Amino acid sequence: MNNDKLKIGLIGTGRIGRLHAEHLASRIRGAQLVALSDVNAESLAECAVQCGVLDTTEDYHDLLSRDDIDAIVICSPTDTHPTIIGECAAAGKDIFCEKPIGSNATEIDSTLAAVEAAGVKLMMGFNRRFDPNFARLQQGVQAGEIGEPHLVHIISRDPGPPPISYIKVSGGIFMDMTIHDFDMARFLTGSEIVEVFAATAVRIDPAIGEAGDVDTALLTLTFENGAIASIDNSRKAVYGYDQRAEVFGSKGALLADNNYPNTTTHMTTASVQRELPLNFFMDRYVDSYLAEMNAFVECINTDSTPPVTGKDAQAAFYAALAAKKSVEEHRPVKISEVC
Ligand SMILES: NC(=O)c1ccc[n+]([C@@H]2O[C@H](COP(=O)([O-])OP(=O)(O)OC[C@H]3O[C@@H](n4cnc5c(N)ncnc54)[C@H](O)[C@@H]3O)[C@@H](O)[C@H]2O)c1
Repeated sequence: MNNDKLKIGLIGTGRIGRLHAEHLASRIRGAQLVALSDVNAESLAECAVQCGVLDTTEDYHDLLSRDDIDAIVICSPTDTHPTIIGECAAAGKDIFCEKPIGSNATEIDSTLAAVEAAGVKLMMGFNRRFDPNFARLQQGVQAGEIGEPHLVHIISRDPGPPPISYIKVSGGIFMDMTIHDFDMARFLTGSEIVEVFAATAVRIDPAIGEAGDVDTALLTLTFENGAIASIDNSRKAVYGYDQRAEVFGSKGALLADNNYPNTTTHMTTASVQRELPLNFFMDRYVDSYLAEMNAFVECINTDSTPPVTGKDAQAAFYAALAAKKSVEEHRPVKISEVC
């Protein structure tokens, strides 16, 4: 055991928790994954074996009371985030928490207040900021490569909808899926969202509508700096995970395409063909998850501000609330109306 390393405990060993656990166990310099927690004993045991971290508990409070754990990575379901963040803060642990921060405005306010009062660090898991394509777009915008940003277009379509059981507890498409795109739009424009106008439809599976959600959405956002953005969401793109973005400005445009398993194209008299895009987030965004966890460890080890804060997560949350209200009332909704 290297005692100089940041000691981390991880809560929630499901889909995303397992990915972070694997990275922390073997690929993140400067950190050591010391213990895992999950209420599901089977999932916990599987993750423990996969990562070679056999120190486990079904009660995450056990991690918070340990002196040999400096920081906690929270990967449990969204409805547990505010409580667990608050408890981690009270225990003096630095925190990485998966998006979103929560689904209730009052709860989010008190969670952020608890973090501030405790003086611990909180970084939120908006991993797409760390994707090399989107990071390059943002750097280009910041460096003035396209002059003043005028328009942003984000295409964010999943390869297939999640199970209806997930839809029912997801908080709806804006809180669950578009939340990443709200954050990306703020990241790319470097400006705050002022107003949201959303149109939605159920075009893929009527069961999604029966569960109270939608599967198709188109949104326009206006920003403090005058830029306008569009977000195009679908729960099902038949050709795979479609994740693209463009920023258009006074001196040109920056465009990020999908990632593909290889760069080979097959050319014949009939067509020019290539592989389908990398399928879904575990493949498409694997580099970003690694980079964000390195950034979390680095911000603690260098005592600097986390690159994605609780306030960033709160801003995305308010944009999701405004989008919901926009659909309900068939009109553009200002962020100031919902916060
Ligand atoms: N950043 C991303 O790209 C991304 C991707 C997927 C999920 N997420 C977020 O991560 C979170 C988890 O999503 P998931 O898809 O991994 O879910 P999941 O259901 O696969 O995993 C959640 C795990 O948490 C465990 N759990 C539930 N309550 C717990 C508690 N009180 N203490 C300890 N463990 C508990 C469950 O048993 C389960 O193993 C969600 O908030 C989701 O929005 C983010």
